[in-house]
Amino acid sequence: MLSLLRHLLAVFLYLLLPGAHGRFPNYNNGFHYHDISNGNGNGEIFFNGVRLHVESPQLAVSASRGSSVILPCHFHYEPEPNTPRRTRVKWSWIPANTISEPVFPVATARETEVMVAMGKRQRSYGSFKGRVRLRRSVPGDMSLVINELQLNDTGRYRCEVIDGLEDESVTVDLELRGVVFPYFSQKGRYHFNFFGAQQACQDQDATLATFEQLFTAWEEGLDWCNAGWLADGTVQYPIIVPRDGCGGNNLAPGLRSYGQRHRLLHRYDAFCFSASIKGTVYFLKHPTKLNFTEAVEACVRDGSQIARVGQLYAAWRLMGLDRCDAGWLADGSVRYPITVPRANCGPPDPGVRGFGFPPAHLKFSVYCYR
Ligand SMILES: *[C@@H]1O[C@H](CO)[C@@H](O)[C@H](O)[C@H]1NC(C)=O
Ligand SMILES: *[C@@H]1O[C@H](CO)[C@@H](O)[C@H](O)[C@H]1NC(C)=O
Repeated sequence: MLSLLRHLLAVFLYLLLPGAHGRFPNYNNGFHYHDISNGNGNGEIFFNGVRLHVESPQLAVSASRGSSVILPCHFHYEPEPNTPRRTRVKWSWIPANTISEPVFPVATARETEVMVAMGKRQRSYGSFKGRVRLRRSVPGDMSLVINELQLNDTGRYRCEVIDGLEDESVTVDLELRGVVFPYFSQKGRYHFNFFGAQQACQDQDATLATFEQLFTAWEEGLDWCNAGWLADGTVQYPIIVPRDGCGGNNLAPGLRSYGQRHRLLHRYDAFCFSASIKGTVYFLKHPTKLNFTEAVEACVRDGSQIARVGQLYAAWRLMGLDRCDAGWLADGSVRYPITVPRANCGPPDPGVRGFGFPPAHLKFSVYCYR
C-alpha cells in the first residue's frame, strides 16, 4: 500500500513540475502506461523493494563505416524476481549532426526512436529500419546491433529499460573511425553557406564534421587557419601554433570558434569527415600525363571512377596510401597522399598535399576509385 502511494505521489509530482509539459511538448517514450499496476491481482505492486539496474560497460564505441557495431546495454533486478517480468526496451538517439539551435541547449535536443522491443516483438524506425536488432546473448542483454553503419549514424544513443513505472537508462556514444579534412570551393575561399558546405562534403563522399570529430583531428595535429562550417551550424578552425591572423599570438592552441553563423547568408569553407570506404583508391598507371577530361575517361576505361577527395583522404589515413605523384580528383583538384614524408614530396609531416584547382587543360596523373 505504501509503495502504491509512493507511485501515485511520484506521478502527481511529475504533473506538478513547473513547465514539465512546456519543455517536452511531445514527450513520449513510446510506451503506454495503462498497465502500470501490473500486479498479481491482489493489489500488490511487484516493485516492492526490487530495483532495476541498467548498465553499459562502454560509454563510447568507435567503429568503421559499413561495418556492424554493438552498443552494449544490460539490465538486471536486485534482488532477482522469482517470476519473469515484462520488460520493455527502447533505444533512441540524438544524431551528432543535429543542428543545435542557440536557444535550445544540447541537453534538450530531441531524441528520436531507433527501436522499441517488448518480449519477442520489436520495431525499428527511420533510417534504422531493417538495420538494427537486440543482441540478447544472455538474459538482460539489450545491446543494440547496428549493421551497415552510415556516416550519419554517429551520435548519442540511449538504452532505456522500462518496467511499469520504473524506468532506467544509460547512454552510449557512437563514433566512426575516419579523417577530417578542410575543403574549399573551386570558386574560391569562403564560398559556402551552410547548405553549400553540406553538399560539398557529400559530393566528396563525406559529411560535415561534428565538433567532436574536429576536436579529435586537432588533438591529432590538424592546424588550419581558415574557418569552416561544422555539422552543428557553427564555424570554427583548429590551431596548434597560435599566430597573428589566426586568432592571435595570445590565445592558447585550440579550436577557434565564431559560434553559430547564419546558415544562408554567411560564407566559409567546410570541414568534412570521411570514414573508411568499401572500395580502393589507386594511382592509375598510364604512359602519359592527362588533362582533366582525359583523366576522367582513363579511370572509366580502367573499370572505375575518378576518386573523390573524401575517398583519397580515407585511403591515405586508414589504408596508408602513399604516392608522390600529383593526380586529378573528381572535383577538378589535384592532390597526392603522403604517409612517409621524404625529400621532394612536400612538407615534413604526413598529409594529403594539394595543388588547388588547376586549369583543366593542364596535365597530371590521376587517382581512381573502384
Ligand atoms: C544518412 O545517410 C544515408 C546514406 O548516405 C542516407 O540515405 C540517409 O538519408 C541519411 N540520413 C539522414 C537522417 O540524413
Ligand atoms: C583534353 O585533351 C583532349 C585531347 O586528348 C581534348 O579533346 C580536350 O578538349 C582536352 N580537355 C581539356 C579540358 O583541355
